[in-house]
Amino acid sequence: MPEDDKKNLSPEEQVTAAREAFEQEFERFSRFRGGVDKTGATLKEAETLQRELNDLRARQTGKKSALASVKKLIGRVAPEARASFGQRVQQLESEISGLIDEVEVALREFTLAAKVERERIDVTLPGRRPRRGHLHPITLLRQQIEDVFVALGYAVEDDREIETEFYNFDALNIAESHPVRHPADTFYTTNGIAVKPQTSTVQIHAMQRRGVPLKVIAPGRVFRRDTPDATHNPMFFQVEGLCVDRAITMAHLKGTLEEFVRRLFGPKTRTRFRPSYFPFTEPSAEVDYSCFKCGGAGCNICKGSGWIELGGSGMVHPNVLATVSVDAEEFTGFAFGLGIDRMCALMYGLDDIRLLFENDVRFLEQFD
Ligand code: DAH
Repeated sequence: MPEDDKKNLSPEEQVTAAREAFEQEFERFSRFRGGVDKTGATLKEAETLQRELNDLRARQTGKKSALASVKKLIGRVAPEARASFGQRVQQLESEISGLIDEVEVALREFTLAAKVERERIDVTLPGRRPRRGHLHPITLLRQQIEDVFVALGYAVEDDREIETEFYNFDALNIAESHPVRHPADTFYTTNGIAVKPQTSTVQIHAMQRRGVPLKVIAPGRVFRRDTPDATHNPMFFQVEGLCVDRAITMAHLKGTLEEFVRRLFGPKTRTRFRPSYFPFTEPSAEVDYSCFKCGGAGCNICKGSGWIELGGSGMVHPNVLATVSVDAEEFTGFAFGLGIDRMCALMYGLDDIRLLFENDVRFLEQFD
């Protein structure tokens, strides 16, 4: 009510006006007096109403409320009328706060009950099972390979993926002019530091760490600047093997790899060694094994040749031994490096090696 009008009203009339103003504002809450649950309100609505009711209480009973103004009038009415006027004002005050309290309790009870209902757990419902993950096909094959070599007395070495020039090339007897040192073949970071292009680097770390004699394999990720296609990826996996002891000969190398392929592909599997060249072995050989599908007769897996490439191998070069201060007169050794990805692709019948790293779950899920 505008101030000017108020001035013309008697104190009695002002009390009536204050009551009317309250009743008008309170009207939309009055339906909640008997409780909220019959009204079909949602929890969100009830929470909004609670906030609005708080505002209403501040407006109707706060310092600037009509109620506060009429309270101030008590002292100003004629002394003989003061007692009854005071009573009227008090009654109005208790009515207002009584009604607001009543609705507040109803709203509070409703929201509490609604929250309890929302959070109720039906313990009889079946639980949600976590989906079981599984290992990547490369990991499965790597573990199989590790099992074979561990059974043959080998330790499994792991090492860093980024290497200095010394470990990547110098210590492996790789000439300054060798193309693998070129940035067109190997991924450099800065100052001669590069991600390793072959697991052979681990040979050096292993001998430095363990000394000789030793028998280790080192499965790991390697990186080369290859354009991806059905049989190439710029990142792939190898397993390095190294055995150094007194009187180790090429016969041990051949026996070891033959035993390996027999355990992995079956007792009838044969191997074939072809002369080759690697800077860190002398003599060096490439190794093939008879096709696990056709047994050597020729099929689509071995492209009709009957043989599948296993990897490179050879007798550890004396220069490599010298780099790690191993006396090449007393100790000899053999080494080999096998690619896992292509073997994996052949074993699982994949026609494209890139599938292995596209991380499409529909593909990966098949190797449980
Ligand atoms: N590091 C060679 C490559 O990536 C493979 C290899 C050949 C490893 C002969 C060896 C080895 O240990 O003796 O092509």
